[in-house]
Amino acid sequence: MPKSKVFITRHFPTKLEQLQKIATIEVWEERQPPPYTVLLKKVKSIDGLLCLLTDQIDQQLIEAAGTSFKVISQMAVGYDNIDIPAAIARKIPVGHTPGVLTDATADLTWALLMAAARHVVEADRFARGGQWKTWEPNLFLGPNITGATLGIVGFGRIGQAVARRAKGFDMKVFYTSKQRSDQELEKDLGVEFTAFEHLLQEADFVTIHTPLSDETYHLFGDLRSAQQRSYRQFKLMKQSAILINTARGAIVDPEALYQALANGEIAGAAIDVTDPEPIPTDSPLLDLDNLIVTPHIGSASRQTREKMANMAIANLIAGLKGEQLPNCVNPEVYL
Ligand code: NAP
Ligand code: GLV
Repeated sequence: MPKSKVFITRHFPTKLEQLQKIATIEVWEERQPPPYTVLLKKVKSIDGLLCLLTDQIDQQLIEAAGTSFKVISQMAVGYDNIDIPAAIARKIPVGHTPGVLTDATADLTWALLMAAARHVVEADRFARGGQWKTWEPNLFLGPNITGATLGIVGFGRIGQAVARRAKGFDMKVFYTSKQRSDQELEKDLGVEFTAFEHLLQEADFVTIHTPLSDETYHLFGDLRSAQQRSYRQFKLMKQSAILINTARGAIVDPEALYQALANGEIAGAAIDVTDPEPIPTDSPLLDLDNLIVTPHIGSASRQTREKMANMAIANLIAGLKGEQLPNCVNPEVYL
């Protein structure tokens, strides 16, 4: 039987032997993602695509795929870069990598929360810059973390893992999500369901863990309506509050975030994700001392990345064999 043809959009953190048994593999070896035009050409002749969140898999690309094209497998849990309705229309299953990156991403969320609260990045710059002259009673004062109120927006895998870690800090934890979790879980994690706006008013730390969707686009900032340039969500938050975003950049309007931080509507923010990515080097956000930015490294532990890669390959192999993907975003394609 002829081997399947597969295109992998970046060098992969795992061995590809299993895949090599059934497929001829082409890997895009450059550091930057393949240009869209390259992807558009590739999908015409391949059976499967292994992609990353930096690849734009839109309707045009999916419609351009050749008749042998059977599967899209993404090495990420989020899949907002893929046009799922277009994949359903072509009956192409889309795989992703949920679960294996939950702890790593919750850990980074906590690293950012603590770094922002206790000015870790600014203090490092201060010490290296020769400004550390003596112990000072008022140097880099931040809020308490222990005993503070945490607000979790989006209570899925990562949101819940963040709540689990909050138990060690004796925090009061509110969450808001599309639906309320079962009471057993709430009791176990010591969390309370509340409305989004109440959470914003009460929390000392607000952390975002929803997917990016039409519903969550600019959930913070709400600039969708031209009349409503009020940055309402930030105004509801405490002036001492800190916002953490390890979900997707476009959930927060960057202009609204800048205004809120520059005008002291909130005290600080720490973001692993920006809109666009990478953050432009001339973004005014980068001039602010009360903002920490990391380059989308939520899942970046060695073990996690290897698990994600293996999971993405398992999805790809299943798709090439015409079997149901173990982790499929659009199971409608099997109906
Ligand atoms: P998940 O288990 O699907 O959790 C997402 C939660 O958000 C679900 O409970 C969902 O509710 C809820 N939600 C959806 N829309 C909402 C809305 N409009 N308002 C409030 N809650 C809403 O996903 P996960 O594994 O925790 O991952 C969450 C996101 O984190 C991913 O989609 C990805 O974008 C991001 N992420 C980033 C990194 C990074 O490197 N920084 C790493 C991993 C993940 P329903 O289930 O009822 O829809
Ligand atoms: C990372 O952002 C992911 O969605 O896995």
